[in-house]
Amino acid sequence: ALVSLRQLLDYAAEHQFAIPAFNVNNLEQVQAIMQAADAVDSPVIMQGSVGARQYAGEPFLRHLILAAIEQYPHIPVVMHQDHGASPAICARAIQSGFSSVMMDGSLLEDMKTPASFDYNASVTRTVVDMAHACGVSVEGELGCLGSLETGKMGEEDGHGAEGALDHSQLLTDPDEAVEFIKLTQVDALAVAIGTSHGAYKFSQPPSGDVLAISHLEKLQNKLPNVHFVMHGSSSVPQDWLAIINRFGGDIGQTYGVPVDEVVEGIKYGVRKVNIDTDLRMASTGAIRQFLADEKNAAIFDPRKFLKAATAAMQAICEARYQSFGSAGHA
Ligand code: G3H
Ligand code: 13P
Ligand code: NA
Ligand code: ZN
Repeated sequence: ALVSLRQLLDYAAEHQFAIPAFNVNNLEQVQAIMQAADAVDSPVIMQGSVGARQYAGEPFLRHLILAAIEQYPHIPVVMHQDHGASPAICARAIQSGFSSVMMDGSLLEDMKTPASFDYNASVTRTVVDMAHACGVSVEGELGCLGSLETGKMGEEDGHGAEGALDHSQLLTDPDEAVEFIKLTQVDALAVAIGTSHGAYKFSQPPSGDVLAISHLEKLQNKLPNVHFVMHGSSSVPQDWLAIINRFGGDIGQTYGVPVDEVVEGIKYGVRKVNIDTDLRMASTGAIRQFLADEKNAAIFDPRKFLKAATAAMQAICEARYQSFGSAGHA
């Protein structure tokens, strides 16, 4: 059944778990996410980005998620719009039936230039007024996602501030967060703690200096009832990275957010954990491996290698449902 983000995150808070929010662009991703949720009995958050709408088209994206709900009527599913750049974009998602939208006012509409607090609060409040009138939830973002190592936004990513950010933008300010929640009444708040989008998050396994999980405790002390969202939370699996490179790929050495660190964050109010890169890497690795295998040399039916990709993605989804504690809560 289609549920709102607020319903699901309130329940998750009560039971102290988080839900992975997977980006979706195609049939195989949707099937991997749903098959895994069905296997471990987890609720689901699927989210569409601007890039996903450009790739699949809004009707295909929406109907893929609706098809998942039809095929798995016992699983609660949130249909979420990821990183809405303006109130107009969010309005369209609300109108087309999404049960949750993100108004990302941390950046201007170009999704590159860091925005002022007042701009962010104002556009976010506008979306909350519209969305709540329709029973739709809203995620806001305060602070800018970016690396505490380099001050840069993630690479390989359609949106993100250009140039270096200053350190204060890279950690969400707890007092500003209190003010932001009061002004906007968002249902969930994406926070900046050193994560960034894409595969190139950290040049070595992250220490607490560059992945500030401890900052979540400061935020939770001031905002004990707010649901936090971690963006850029792929783990960048080293096994898939090695497989991609073994079978013709060339991805540099890089590290993501260890699953254990996310689990630590769940103690401090993290309820939604955004993951895209991990599924991209698993499917690319699985397809490269499948097609490189001599015994598959005569195969030209795409279902064969897409099935390998689906299985690889499903394994990651299941692992995240288990680790984040959403398994058993569908
Ligand atoms: O928010 C970031 C997601 O990884 C979406 O990426 O815009 O390339 O679909 P995308
Ligand atoms: P990753 O690039 O770490 O998968 O993050 C995705 C994300 O935050 C989507 O909003
Ligand atoms: Na989002
Ligand atoms: Zn994001």
